[in-house]
Amino acid sequence: MFRLRRMRESDLLKVRDIERVSHPLPWRLAYFRQAVRRGWCCWVIEDAQTVAGYGVIQIVRHQAHIMSLTVAPHYRHRGLGIRMLRHLLREAGRQGARWARLEVRPSSQAALSLYGSLGFKARGYIRHYYPGPGASTGALVMTRRVQRGSKLRSSHG
Ligand SMILES: CC(C)(COP(=O)(O)OP(=O)(O)OC[C@H]1O[C@@H](n2cnc3c(N)ncnc32)[C@H](O)[C@@H]1OP(=O)(O)O)[C@@H](O)C(=O)NCCC(=O)NCCS
Repeated sequence: MFRLRRMRESDLLKVRDIERVSHPLPWRLAYFRQAVRRGWCCWVIEDAQTVAGYGVIQIVRHQAHIMSLTVAPHYRHRGLGIRMLRHLLREAGRQGARWARLEVRPSSQAALSLYGSLGFKARGYIRHYYPGPGASTGALVMTRRVQRGSKLRSSHG
């Protein structure tokens, strides 16, 4: 039985471990700590006592910026990513956001397909967004509207 709850500082070691195995440029633990302390919208999804995934959004005025969305490898393909994303969008709507925005690697098939299934559309491309040891990589910018308190449109029903 999975449940969503706000991220706590006591989750950060586990979050850092999942982050390290999930991203080519993982956030450092201190970055997550700052996000929690600054009151960004930081959530985890847990299975019994174990963090299975997490998401972070920063809301500035009417825009929710999805900063992080990750599911631990062992828990993928069970609908947790989509559940977390729906939850983050609902929270964003509650907090007055009208738009959600994110950046994603064009090579991240799983992420592109997840975002597409919840109505995100590619609106632009930022060159050299992700630094790399050899060459940097660009990011697709995706957005969708967020409606306050309304149901989320999704191809998953
Ligand atoms: C992207 C990620 C969060 C998806 O989490 P997940 O829990 O496996 O996703 P879900 O089970 O909720 O899948 C939701 C939808 O996403 C898509 N999807 C998920 N994994 C996929 C894959 N490997 N290939 C293609 N589509 C995929 C599918 O459309 C899926 O719907 P379906 O199961 O009805 O086909 C997870 O793969 C992850 O953490 N990846 C590494 C970090 C990352 O890329 N984060 C996002 C960019 S910052």
